[in-house]
Amino acid sequence: ALALFPAFSNAYWLMPAGVITEERLDPIVSPNAVSGHVHTVFGGSNFGSNVTTEKLQQSTCTSTAVNEDFSNYWAPKLYFQWKNGSFSDVSGNGVIYYFFSDTPGATKPFPDNFRMISGDPTKRSFDPNDAGQKAVLYNCIQSNGQPNSDSTDLPAKECSFSLRSQLFFPNCWDGKNLDSTNHKSHVAFPKIETTSMPPNSGQKCEDPNFPVVLPQVLLEIWWEVSPWYAHKTEAMNPDQPFVYAYGDPTGFGNHGDFYNGWKEGVLQKAVDGCNCNKDGDPSCCVQKGIFTTTDPATKHCTIPKSTDEQVKGMLPKLPGSNLVVGRGGTVSPAP
Ligand SMILES: *[C@@H]1O[C@H](CO)[C@@H](O)[C@H](O)[C@H]1NC(C)=O
Ligand SMILES: *[C@@H]1O[C@H](CO)[C@@H](O)[C@H](O)[C@H]1NC(C)=O
Repeated sequence: ALALFPAFSNAYWLMPAGVITEERLDPIVSPNAVSGHVHTVFGGSNFGSNVTTEKLQQSTCTSTAVNEDFSNYWAPKLYFQWKNGSFSDVSGNGVIYYFFSDTPGATKPFPDNFRMISGDPTKRSFDPNDAGQKAVLYNCIQSNGQPNSDSTDLPAKECSFSLRSQLFFPNCWDGKNLDSTNHKSHVAFPKIETTSMPPNSGQKCEDPNFPVVLPQVLLEIWWEVSPWYAHKTEAMNPDQPFVYAYGDPTGFGNHGDFYNGWKEGVLQKAVDGCNCNKDGDPSCCVQKGIFTTTDPATKHCTIPKSTDEQVKGMLPKLPGSNLVVGRGGTVSPAP
């Protein structure tokens, strides 16, 4: 049912992921501080306001299906906005994909303390000249299984099964820097020929400034939007009632963060040996002894919140006091 890229090679796997916490934390953008907006966080249980690969590797559990992946993946949370300006939280779960080269040895694992961001929270319109903008997509999934094409913004239609956000990370690395000032310029997207991602089934990195091929991560969040359509007429915008935690009702500013926490040695074996199932089913990697998997729903891997702030239920404003800025608008920082 999750075979979403049928034209692709065998060189990928996907793993469902539960949520470990939802709060205003972002150890890449705001280390040792409270961050600007609420994130939905997946992965290793040692997530916090300041992480390292070594610390993540010592997690007691991970909410992703692959038990050896203690990395963290996080993205802004989604809310429903009422006519009177209040917000209610929307639930969601993750599915994380790893794409890599068919040729064993061609894809390198993430180095220790490697981290990066994809997407830009200040965007409120589509920028066709920005390779990163093409990495932010949505799919409105219907219960009757009808296929839908991707959209570049939050779709103004009812998604009876799920509203899926799809965020690709860059996979070409400069080979030197584990991070950069904007958390993006040490990595690049591969050359994009088409308007949709993933762009190059060979996962080749042709720009000599970014020669190292890393796995390409795709973070999907399946937002459980369907219960909210019953309240559509009570919404601030009945056509598209959802707003991201950073005040974005368009979806163009969606973004996500990755911090490497893979258990030593496992990711190299995975990208060399997991090209074994065309539907991305990782059981063949398990059979090869590369890693082990457990259904996230049975793991109950969650962590206590470290910020004392309500982020769920009925909220008079977005946590962090982020203002909602619509299409084409200019974003100014929250007070
Ligand atoms: C994170 O914590 C470590 C000590 O555990 C410290 O050395 C480092 O400076 C902290 N990072 C930041 C950005 O404050
Ligand atoms: C806003 O509207 C919702 C839905 O009708 C209601 O439950 C909530 O109490 C209202 N909030 C305020 C501050 O009036």
